[in-house]
Amino acid sequence: MRYNRRGVALLAALITVLACSPGDEPPPSSHHLPADQRAGTPGIGDPDFPRDGNGGYDVAHYDLAVAYVPATKRLDGVAAVRARATQDLTSFNLDLTGLDVRGVAVNDVPARFSREGDELTVRPSKVLDSGTTFTVKVTYSGLPKPAKDTANLGTYGFIPTPDGAFVASEPNGSKTWFPSNDHPSDKATFNFTITVPAGVTALANGEMIGQPVTAGGRTTFRWRERHPMATYLATATIGKFDLRQGSTATGIQNLAATDPKFKGSLNELYTRSGEITDYWTTVFGPYPFSSTGGVVDDYSAGYALENQTKPLYGGFNPQETIVAHELAHQWFGNSLTIKRWKDLWLNEGFATYAEWLWSEHKGRQSAEAMFQQLHNRPESDPMWKYPPGRAKPDDLFNQSVYTRGGMTLHALRRAIGDATFFTLLKRWTAEHRYGHVTTEQFIDLAEHLSGKDLTPLFDAWLFQPRRPS
Ligand code: TRP
Ligand code: ZN
Repeated sequence: MRYNRRGVALLAALITVLACSPGDEPPPSSHHLPADQRAGTPGIGDPDFPRDGNGGYDVAHYDLAVAYVPATKRLDGVAAVRARATQDLTSFNLDLTGLDVRGVAVNDVPARFSREGDELTVRPSKVLDSGTTFTVKVTYSGLPKPAKDTANLGTYGFIPTPDGAFVASEPNGSKTWFPSNDHPSDKATFNFTITVPAGVTALANGEMIGQPVTAGGRTTFRWRERHPMATYLATATIGKFDLRQGSTATGIQNLAATDPKFKGSLNELYTRSGEITDYWTTVFGPYPFSSTGGVVDDYSAGYALENQTKPLYGGFNPQETIVAHELAHQWFGNSLTIKRWKDLWLNEGFATYAEWLWSEHKGRQSAEAMFQQLHNRPESDPMWKYPPGRAKPDDLFNQSVYTRGGMTLHALRRAIGDATFFTLLKRWTAEHRYGHVTTEQFIDLAEHLSGKDLTPLFDAWLFQPRRPS
């Protein structure tokens, strides 16, 4: 007969209870943490965002079922989160802002829970042993409120619109609409079941499963993203949409969706997204996901987000440059994901450089000309004071992270030559496909492939508060 660990632990606990007179210390257990260290932490360990994400477990899958009524702005959700405990857990946290939690169950057994700020603390009825898989199901509802940032992020998260919702959550807005481990260092697969009033469309990541089902005046859409995804890239964008579906020239599923106000962009968005996705596969390596495309909604965000498989454009006709940017993120940011926010240039610098590569590919301005022009900016330009290799938490999306980040790649290309540079891009995406990356890993790979000491170059471009010479 084999004893599982829980059985052994129960037996040990029983012996302890029987053997100890009141006041005795329980004997230390060999494989369990002391009781006071068995609470999962309220942050995953990003020093710049200490309360983002949570410690003590690793999410494998989110199964999200949400119903949303645009007229009342009310959301009703059930989130089933499957995770593996990375330590013994007497309690653990999820990130959730606002909304009322009506019940929490762990492995189908009701659990106690409490709220404090953006933290939902769950106390399972039984300790979760390190290494075991569990499912926590949270039933919640309310009026989602987007996150607002005083710095440079503006409004993000779940943003109600007259006909639905615009959902773009970078960096930490997924907690405005579902309980999550809201930090990019924990990626997971996702299933979405989204119910909306009939006539309204719900668009999420990945591909649609089956056809939408309408009953009782409501339509349910099911979507599945079967590749690992960071929480900030999850979307359930809802509204009136015109759709165009098909596949790219190389056979990647392609879906474009536009709000009726932007119907004139539908064909252009569809065609460009397909053309650009295909081109990036020749530069960055195989497409990491099962579909591509894009969504234009009528919320005037003035920006776009690279939501996995479905970049979201906020209230404008997306031009080629921005489509090239968002689709480059499918490799840089979405497939290869940063472990901590200070490395954001690995997303934005690369996506910005992709804009220049697209321009070069189309025979317009070359990356070299773009680089020269930017490098000529005077010493007083704020970009030179902000080292892009360490994105600042209160100014994460600073222009330097984008522009000087892109320039860093061009400086690297000049130093190691086109052949090595483009080999490096493909090696980088291949080696870390679906994984996590840091700046140090990129520098190491660049040095390894080129056989050059690139420390001075990266130091000047990424880490010094002055214009590189
Ligand atoms: N990553 C986006 C881009 O450069 C910019 C962005 C940051 C954003 N936070 C956002 C967009 C929140 C929408 C919502 O492509
Ligand atoms: Zn970007």
